Amino acid sequence: MFQRHYSANACLLPICSLYGMAVTTVEGVGSTRTRIHPVQERLAKCHGSQCGFCTPGMVMSIYTLLRNHPEPTYEQMTAALAGNLCRCTGYRPILDACKTFCKVRTSDYRREKILVLFSFSFKESARLFSPDEFQPLDPTQEFIFPPELMRMAENQPKRTLVFHGERMMWISPVTLDELQDLKAAHPKAPLVVGNTGVGPDMKFRGVFHPIVIAPARIPDLNVVKCMSDGLTIGAACSLSLMKDVLRNAILELPEEKTKIFYAVLQQLRTLGGEQIRNVASLGGNIISRKSTSDLNPILAAGNCMLNLASQGKRDPFSVLVLEVQDDTVQGARLGSKWALMPKYVLLPDAYVSASYSLLSDLVQGEYISAFRQAPRRENALPIISAGMRVLFEEGTDKIKDLSIFYGGAASTTVCAKQACQTLIGRYWNEQMLDEASRLILNEIILPNSASDGKIEYKKILIVSFFYKFFLEVLQSLKTMDPCRYPGIPMEYESVLENFQTKMPQSIQIYQNVELSQSPQDPVGRPIMHQSGIKHATGEAVYIDDIPSVDGELFLSVVTSSRAHAKIVSVDTSEALKEPGVFDIITANDVPATNEFHYSDDPEIIFARNKVICVGQIVCAVAADSYAHAKQAAAKVKIEYEALEPVILTIEDAIRHNSFFEPKRKLERGDVDKAFETVDHILEGEIHIGGQEHFYMETQSVLVVPKGEDKEMDVFVSTQHPAFIQEMVAASLGVPANRIMCHVKRVGGAFGGKLLKAGLLASVASVAANKTNRAVRLILSRGDDMLITGGRHPFIGKYKVGFMNDGRIRAVDVKYYINGGCTPDESVLVAEVSLLKMDNAYKIPNLRCWACACKTNLPSNTAFRGFGFPQSGLVTETWITEVAEKTGLSPEKVREMNMYKEDEQTHFKQKLDPQNLIRCWNECMEKSAYYSRKTAIEEFNKQNYWKKKGIAIVPMKFPFGLGSRYLSQAAALVHIYTDGSVLLTHGGIELGQGIHTKMIQVASRELNIPMSYIHFCETSTTTVPNACASVGSAGTDVNGMAVKDACQTLLKRLQPIINENPKGNWNDWIKEAFEQSVSLSATGYFRGYDADMDWEKGEGQPFTYFLYGTACSEVEINCLTGDHKNLRTDIVMDIGCSINPAVDIGQIEGAFVQGIGLYTMEELKYSPEGVLHTRGPDQYKIPAVCDIPEQFNVSLLSSSQNPYAIYSSKGLGEAGLFLGCSVFFALRDAITCVRNERGLKKTFALNSPLTAEQIRAACTDDFTKMVIGRWGSDLFNYV
Ligand SMILES: Cc1cc2nc3c(=O)[nH]c(=O)nc-3n(C[C@H](O)[C@H](O)[C@H](O)COP(=O)(O)OP(=O)(O)OC[C@H]3O[C@@H](n4cnc5c(N)ncnc54)[C@H](O)[C@@H]3O)c2cc1C
Ligand code: FES
Repeated sequence: MFQRHYSANACLLPICSLYGMAVTTVEGVGSTRTRIHPVQERLAKCHGSQCGFCTPGMVMSIYTLLRNHPEPTYEQMTAALAGNLCRCTGYRPILDACKTFCKVRTSDYRREKILVLFSFSFKESARLFSPDEFQPLDPTQEFIFPPELMRMAENQPKRTLVFHGERMMWISPVTLDELQDLKAAHPKAPLVVGNTGVGPDMKFRGVFHPIVIAPARIPDLNVVKCMSDGLTIGAACSLSLMKDVLRNAILELPEEKTKIFYAVLQQLRTLGGEQIRNVASLGGNIISRKSTSDLNPILAAGNCMLNLASQGKRDPFSVLVLEVQDDTVQGARLGSKWALMPKYVLLPDAYVSASYSLLSDLVQGEYISAFRQAPRRENALPIISAGMRVLFEEGTDKIKDLSIFYGGAASTTVCAKQACQTLIGRYWNEQMLDEASRLILNEIILPNSASDGKIEYKKILIVSFFYKFFLEVLQSLKTMDPCRYPGIPMEYESVLENFQTKMPQSIQIYQNVELSQSPQDPVGRPIMHQSGIKHATGEAVYIDDIPSVDGELFLSVVTSSRAHAKIVSVDTSEALKEPGVFDIITANDVPATNEFHYSDDPEIIFARNKVICVGQIVCAVAADSYAHAKQAAAKVKIEYEALEPVILTIEDAIRHNSFFEPKRKLERGDVDKAFETVDHILEGEIHIGGQEHFYMETQSVLVVPKGEDKEMDVFVSTQHPAFIQEMVAASLGVPANRIMCHVKRVGGAFGGKLLKAGLLASVASVAANKTNRAVRLILSRGDDMLITGGRHPFIGKYKVGFMNDGRIRAVDVKYYINGGCTPDESVLVAEVSLLKMDNAYKIPNLRCWACACKTNLPSNTAFRGFGFPQSGLVTETWITEVAEKTGLSPEKVREMNMYKEDEQTHFKQKLDPQNLIRCWNECMEKSAYYSRKTAIEEFNKQNYWKKKGIAIVPMKFPFGLGSRYLSQAAALVHIYTDGSVLLTHGGIELGQGIHTKMIQVASRELNIPMSYIHFCETSTTTVPNACASVGSAGTDVNGMAVKDACQTLLKRLQPIINENPKGNWNDWIKEAFEQSVSLSATGYFRGYDADMDWEKGEGQPFTYFLYGTACSEVEINCLTGDHKNLRTDIVMDIGCSINPAVDIGQIEGAFVQGIGLYTMEELKYSPEGVLHTRGPDQYKIPAVCDIPEQFNVSLLSSSQNPYAIYSSKGLGEAGLFLGCSVFFALRDAITCVRNERGLKKTFALNSPLTAEQIRAACTDDFTKMVIGRWGSDLFNYV
């Protein structure tokens, strides 16, 4: 029997829908206790996991694909991963693991071979993993489908199933009649098939359905029929099945019969991820995606038939108004006459179920196409989708019939009916195009209230899609009759092709260890992450995996819905009556400190009298389950009285003079005088949006009171356990020695798990203290995004004076950062943005000024790069503008103004830029910059609607934490009598591989294999007062401490070793014990000297500098604003890498996070300060489709660093800024478009540079039509 395996999202899959199915979870795929599966092994060994939180999901997607296709193609593999997100790795190593399973086509093979040769030409390369170690994939060793389930399916008659829960009933009928009866009896009950429409509403939007009807087992709804005039596909068929059916039909049927199948397939390819398509049904999509369906517009344009079944005719709005065919199954022709209006079908008292959808084939002279543009190319709902069909009078290009449907424009799919009717009889030419565009724009009215605010962009897409259809049809007419129809100009042709996701190719170059290095010494080798295998088997424990403690309670927080208001009352009476509720915790329950004063304004645990942002925690409900806590939290009523002012934006804050103090300024040279002598002055401003950390593990804490002496164990996902300990102790009013914080690993943090984690741990500890129970608080993704803030939004205002030859003589910049409602580290972020703003350039006369704005947004906090990604982008923007003004190339202006020899920064710290220049030159060479630039110019001449762009950006990244005490570190090393070593230190494993590196250090120092050394957890009980794992410093400082501890131990062992040099480790340890030599030692590192005098504007705040350069190439689609990252080459100076696999992973991961910051990730707030983008459906981080098709990283060879362990450099943050090379490559492509169209030269682009902004900047007749018509210039470019 043929079996098919489906991946699915566990969070949306109703357990009742699994009746009769076999479910495999990651634990079932393989485990360290039995045998690990090749997928798990290869993911780990190819370094495909960092924090490991996404890894089980990756394993399941790949495993499922391999169960169905043991030798998949690259296309199948990238498609299988399109729905998986990883915030750490940048996907390259995951894809490397995937490639090892793929059938390599000759062309792929040739390409790979070329790349390998290329890499050898740089000599340094060894592979980061060795495929020879991998166990083969043997499909015969997989689990079989359980025979008992098979027997059950064969023998048991199908009958209605009913499952009762505490509050819900799930009914699964097996006949259409039964379904109709049920629908009549429970008119409000939704039909649930895949639950991907209903599920998110119930889970995230508080919708509740006491009864759910699940029709998936009804045979009539699972029909697939292929007939002479088309296909019939049951409404309960999954979108994956539909995809297969269409693909097969395309293979079997003549081309003219399958045009619509192509069009539908095109939409299905990017609709959701595979996990969604595997369960989401056709009927569900048609009905539930009222506005943003990818399918409805094309199904409607294709004149598809939707067969509807109902029991009677009671509903006056029902689809009975459509053409009725018979009493029970009405066929509705949803094409030329009707917009598909699911709201009719969805009316609560309608008892209708879509049973079949029929796809018809087209006739000669008929053309059909589908279009979409989404915030991310894959796995994102469309901003606008469209389906268009035209039928010409026989043998002509005279329109006989035309259908144009759009999704995303209004609350339902809409049809440009009048436009279509008016155009009948017109010929397919420019005149028709112009008329059609105006008619369509007149007819498709977009509500001004559109919550995503993309009204102008949507309008532009609406006409641009029609234009694309126009071009497509012209080209098809040419194929039909080239003598009569000339087709489209050659330079227009490329726009007809959509960007595709290809399996990325990559090269990683690093320096091999010296041949003389002992094979046992792991330093400098690409060692697998210490938890890699456990990540892949799902055995790695995160807070949510810790088994529940007896009597444990779950917390759900109640947050403010107002940005600035007085709390008049908090009514918890209804909430307390909810099932399972144990208690409600408020500010009054905090035994000691509720407000922490680290600066003038406090950080607050619970709001007491007033709220200062939407999302501030007011109270928390403790209940016996998370579901009960959440349910009750929704019942807490808070009454507010509005307070003035409500300050949300930087502009508001400037108006109200609302800042966190101090403001900072740095100055060198005589700026005002220099401005008098320069040839030109330019002024400008750039706005940079904030960024959500989107760590995969949301903020999580489990607090367990130990029952004596007020002791508490706090298991917490944080970067700074000592700080959590301090906050929890202060809030409870107990000494810190009663609070034991434990961190095994953290599922990503990126700066977001410092102060915010402390506040949340305090909330949970106060609850545990009050209830005397263990309390677990795991924030939902939505709450996490709402409450915890992120990267600071930023405005940079600049004035730049420069000479005709491109030399920049004077710069005056002002930075404003939106700190949100409490100070957190905002002033520090502002300081760092100033200290690093020069990036790689020496500006002789420079004045920079920064301040943190106090607003009523959730408080923003540390985020990888800490102000530099923003101030660096401002710098690169004015550098680019100088190039545009002088007519020089950006790379020339960069090169000319770069630090050249031993220099001083603008705050008088010395630096030697030799490696900066080496990185720049190597990157120029490795990326073949100039020849590619020429090729791009050639491409751009030959393509009108698609353009390529390239940019190369250098980077100086200063390393340092500003004060010595912030970089002190300690370690504790125990050797047990069996020779095994237990190592701990103050660093936290966030995915950056710190424990792996520390084991490498200990292995070298003790001269024992890594396998002898174990790391258990970071804890305040073993290493007190440890500094935060931040600022790329973890390995540097903890490595020194580990080295110190190991050297102490080795010193003690040395006499014993000397006495028995031929003995082994175990002999020496045994002997040491017998001689009463202590086998435990602490190690300590005092930290780096650092100082900064802000009064004088001078200091040595940094220890050393990292350098790097990235060159990126992109291609844009000028009609949609879509873009593709074609290639990136990075050269980084990170000293001598302790672990090149980990370090390259950090560079790539940070770079891809930078792509997210600068080109995709958009936070949207309502005018009242409510964050709209509160989950992966609204907030798009980069996915597999977003990484460069060719992604090369080289580590600069022969680079030494006397300041850090083994000459390495701390590099966790640096790579993020290099993501801006993509921003400037996009700018380059846009510049080319604008130059070609004679548009004025200077224009401003803000970050993120989304498709919306790209499209707006590529001004053409369509943008003018829209913007002119509405008389506004939404896009704000100068
Ligand atoms: C992560 C994610 C990404 C997505 N991306 C896209 C995308 O890019 N493009 C896109 O178009 N969609 C997208 N979707 C939407 C998805 O395609 C739909 O949610 C899905 O098709 C609905 O099918 P379902 O079986 O899961 O519906 P369910 O959630 O089971 O039901 C949804 C609704 O349809 C009704 N319904 C279901 N079957 C019938 C029937 N036979 N007769 C009458 N009513 C019925 C139900 O009553 C319910 O109201 C995405 C969804 C998710 C979760
Ligand atoms: S390893 Fe993928 S999210 Fe951390």
